[in-house]
Amino acid sequence: VTVAALVPAAGRGERLGPGAPKALRTLGGVPLLVHAVRSLSQARDVDVVVVAAPPDQAGAVRSALASWAVPAEVLVVPGGETRRESVARALASLPDDVDVVLVHDAARPLAPSDLADAVIAAVRAGADAVVPALPVVDTIKQVDDHNLVQATVDRASLRSVQTPQGFRRAVLADAHRLAGGDVTDDAGLVEAAGGRVQVIAGHPEAFKVTRPIDLVFAEAVLARRRATHVG
Ligand code: C5P
Repeated sequence: VTVAALVPAAGRGERLGPGAPKALRTLGGVPLLVHAVRSLSQARDVDVVVVAAPPDQAGAVRSALASWAVPAEVLVVPGGETRRESVARALASLPDDVDVVLVHDAARPLAPSDLADAVIAAVRAGADAVVPALPVVDTIKQVDDHNLVQATVDRASLRSVQTPQGFRRAVLADAHRLAGGDVTDDAGLVEAAGGRVQVIAGHPEAFKVTRPIDLVFAEAVLARRRATHVG
């Protein structure tokens, strides 16, 4: 089985504040994207990594990956206007022999390699699509346009979903071809196409860097890893 990891990295990261595209912001002096690609390439079972770069920054992405010596075969393709389009472009560039595909946000730089391996193992065990997820910790309320609470949702059955997500290649390719509308993850396309999606245990360090505070958390995780020589 040949496994490819696709890394959508073409977002602007506007919620993080002004500056470089999010994937090129640094964490411990290293671009977020490089952390993410390194972790994937250290996974036991990942054979090739494909990065969807901001279209005007493909050169900067290539040189960042080259100068930080990522130990894997890495292809860089231009991303698209939406996350979905960025993933579709990376998918279109895959060699024929790839049969399992991971999709992992560049914005989740600290997701451990073991999580990628656990997702791949679940796909190999027979699932069409696999997502890592954590229970929701906050109480969740539904509000109307005036911010008035309409309902409190029972959180026991809710999950907060992360990446890397894993797929049989044909399942993901068909879902991208068939499903319309806007989705925020690839499993959403598989669901819309009528497929079954398996949840496995996520990891707290696979959180997405979205707001400025997330960079503070990420720096702290990195400092702890360096102090304990892990990762
Ligand atoms: O915006 P959000 O945080 O949900 O983005 C998730 C991931 O999708 C990020 O790694 C971002 O770079 C990527 N993305 C992309 N192409 C876009 C928009 C987002 O590759 N047009």
